[in-house]
Parts: sequence; structure tokens; C-alpha cells
Amino acid sequence: MSYAIAIDGPAGAGKSSIAKCLADRLGIIYVDTGALYRVIGLAVYREAGICSDPDVICRIAGKTQVKLLHNEKGQRVYLADEDVSEEIRREEISQMASIVSAVPFVREKLLSLQRDMAHSQSVVMDGRDIGTRILPDAEYKVFLVCPAEERARRRLNQLKEQGLTGDYDQILADIKERDHRDMNREVSPLKKAEDAIEFDTSGMTAEGMAERIIEEMKICPKSC
Ligand code: DC
Repeated sequence: MSYAIAIDGPAGAGKSSIAKCLADRLGIIYVDTGALYRVIGLAVYREAGICSDPDVICRIAGKTQVKLLHNEKGQRVYLADEDVSEEIRREEISQMASIVSAVPFVREKLLSLQRDMAHSQSVVMDGRDIGTRILPDAEYKVFLVCPAEERARRRLNQLKEQGLTGDYDQILADIKERDHRDMNREVSPLKKAEDAIEFDTSGMTAEGMAERIIEEMKICPKSC
């Protein structure tokens, strides 16, 4: 029997690292849905720069081909035939992803892609509306939280590890702006599902958090 674990929460709460650990531990696939919005954000950015005009976004999103593949290295995302898995992580694409994700046409376009992934196999899927809209019948629902200041510190450390620099105040402001947009948009805002269990990831490692989720929610590996 296949099952789904839905993980939602704000940017930087540790969703993807925790979801990857869970998928490894349980022997199931990890689906990062934010990457799909990022591909559309990238397509819009390439053609129109930083742009929040819904007409322009719909026009570009309508012709954008998004593909999601899994190999031994994990998930790869494609804009038509181009692997853009690294490029979509740029800071301006984070902002664009947040902007395009508020457009109903974009959310509808990506809905079936996400549902299809969970149809025939067990998945850990992370995003903002997985437990509330994409997989409302998911067997396990997790909602991760973490104060914005700690999320900004983590982001700064990540940048340092990559040999990059960043400004803490700017990162904190960007995080708060994205939180506000993600939580207040009209369609599928970031919200805890009623039947989700909330975990605060402050001070926790991804491995520690995955362990705790498996124990507290009594999740079995695929084979059990
Ligand atoms: O998780 P992420 O930071 O890669 O997501 C990028 C943006 O996409 C984020 O600002 C919110 C949006 N998103 C969404 O609206 N719904 C999802 N299921 C996943 C991401």
C-alpha cells in the first residue's frame, strides 16, 4: 500500500532537508513542489524580469513546459528540455516563485502534476498547500514552524558554506516578505491543515527532526 506524507510550512523552516531525510529513511520518493513554482518564476524572469503583472505571468506560464524527474541524485526539474535545478535556487527566482505562486492559473497548472506524482507511489511531498489542497487525504500531515530570525541565520550560514556573502537584515526582510505573501494570498495560502501535527524545528538537525516525526507519527518504511 502506498502512502503520502504532506509537509507544509514557511520558507526556511527546514522542510526540504527534513523531507529528504524522511524519504531516505523510509525508502520513498521526495517531491519538492516549490521547485515547480520556481521553474515558472524563472521562465517569467527570463522574459520579463521581476514582474508581478498577472496577465504577463499567465501568458508566460501558459506556454512554459515544466518537468519533474527523479534519478539516483534525487529530483531534477526542467524548463522544457533544460535542466534548471540549480538556477532556480537564485535569490531573485525565490521572490519570483512567490509572486507567480499567488496567481490562480499557475496553481491550477501545477495541480495535476503534483497529484500524479503521489498517485502510484509513496511520497514525501513538501510545499505550502500539500495537506490542505494537493493531497487532502494524505495519511500523514506535518506542519513545520520556526521563528523568522532563526530561518534568516540558517540562510546566512548556507550562503557562507557556499562561499557567498549575504546581509542578515536583508535576508530577514525577504523572508518576512515571502511569509506575508505566502500566508495572505487568496488562493491556497500557507496554512496548517486541521489534521496536521505541528513541529518547531528550532535548534533541531534535519536527521533529529525526521527521527522525531517517524516516531511520533508512527510512520512505517515502505516495506513494513
Ligand atoms: O519551498 P520554496 O521556497 O522552494 O517555494 C518557492 C515559492 O513557491 C514559495 O514562495 C511559495 C511557493 N509555493 C507554493 O505556493 N506552494 C507550494 N506547494 C510550494 C511552493
